Amino acid sequence: MHRVPTSRPAASVAGAHAAPSRSALGVDEPPPRRVAEEPCGAVAVAPGVHWVGALDPGLRCFDLILNTGSGTTYNSFVVRGESGVAVIDTVKAEFADDFFRRLETVARYEEIRVIVLNHLEPDHTGALPELMRRAPQAELCISKRAPALLNALLKVSGDRVPAIRTLDTGDTIDLGGQTLQCLHTPFLHWPDTQCTWLAEAGVLFSGDIFGSHHCDERLFDDVCGEFHCAFDDYFAHIMRPFKRHVRAALELIEPLPIALIAPTHGPILRERPQVYVQRYRELATTRPIPPLDPDQPGLVILYASAHGGTARMAAAIRDGLEEGSGISVVLHELGCGDPRDAVDLIECADVLVIGSPTINGDAAKAIWDLLASLSLIDLNGKLAAAFGSYGWSGEAVRLIEERLRGLKLRVPVPGLRQKLIPNEAELVECRAFGRALANALNGAGAGSVIDFADLQ
Ligand code: FEO
Repeated sequence: MHRVPTSRPAASVAGAHAAPSRSALGVDEPPPRRVAEEPCGAVAVAPGVHWVGALDPGLRCFDLILNTGSGTTYNSFVVRGESGVAVIDTVKAEFADDFFRRLETVARYEEIRVIVLNHLEPDHTGALPELMRRAPQAELCISKRAPALLNALLKVSGDRVPAIRTLDTGDTIDLGGQTLQCLHTPFLHWPDTQCTWLAEAGVLFSGDIFGSHHCDERLFDDVCGEFHCAFDDYFAHIMRPFKRHVRAALELIEPLPIALIAPTHGPILRERPQVYVQRYRELATTRPIPPLDPDQPGLVILYASAHGGTARMAAAIRDGLEEGSGISVVLHELGCGDPRDAVDLIECADVLVIGSPTINGDAAKAIWDLLASLSLIDLNGKLAAAFGSYGWSGEAVRLIEERLRGLKLRVPVPGLRQKLIPNEAELVECRAFGRALANALNGAGAGSVIDFADLQ
């Protein structure tokens, strides 16, 4: 993505933690991080807004899905108005002491009127039970989708149920000269995700949206070193499965006159925040990739083949699909490496057809690696099917179908199994299998299920 210049001095935001300039150091690269420079108190972000979060430079894996070689931050904010204080999100439980220490430098607990939780994942609600104990008068402001999740969260922590207000897009919280407004942005990446817009300062508290796993005590995008790979990587692992919802959220976010984006992870984006909004629009727009034809329904056949039997089946299925169906078909053999290219193909296709031999009663490892990667993309509305050759037991096709159905994919044509190397009669069956898939995709196959297992 376009790299944001790093020339803006930290002092241009009042109270922001100052970083040593590059010229003072006489080097081109950003200075190395030093734990001793970690901000001890709150950091001013905008008029009446302070960061009171925590740094976690040692984190190396997030949510079991994402390597975090640069650690992360848990960003929490305090907004002060004339009639009260709002706390927006908290931090992971292990970092609660840092959070409270910073919070106490800018607010007294009895001033806290509301606690806004942009989503309830524990890395942002870990300090909530203790904050509720210290500020029992504070009202919890959560998404309209969040109450059930909150009950589950507080049940675990054993805390009493506080005063709760649920929010939808357009609902406001008036702090006196500071007005917080809700944007309902579900599934980014939890069902209850919302953003909070502070109109007076043009600050978007965006939750995990626009986040990065990048830990740097200088906090702001223009002074914290290179993090744009982390920004894209975060999208690829956290937001990519929800591209439809990202696009819906951007409809709410793009019209805003944003001066600064304050996400829950990584750098606070103040240099040119619209660059990051535009980047999300790019990343959330799925374009068919060659050789899939953007003007036709797309189908990908992905297979592994030990001795050529499954490969022959795959080619015959493709031939059947291409018999005048008007479907764009891609045939792709999986190797032993990274299944990322195959995942990109599947994201662009309407139908996913997976072929595997049976090896020791199971599908091939390359197939399971691919199937384990499908949670990275939105599978909503796609069709799927399975096929494969086998020697004696032939469990792979059934196991693949179970996984496909478990991913909520519709499997309209029963899987096709054939013994070892298919003969001409069996290749005729494969072509019929392909035609049945084409019919299912074109809507002609509804109600006419061919059970190829009966043909063997
Ligand atoms: Fe950063 Fe979804 O928790």
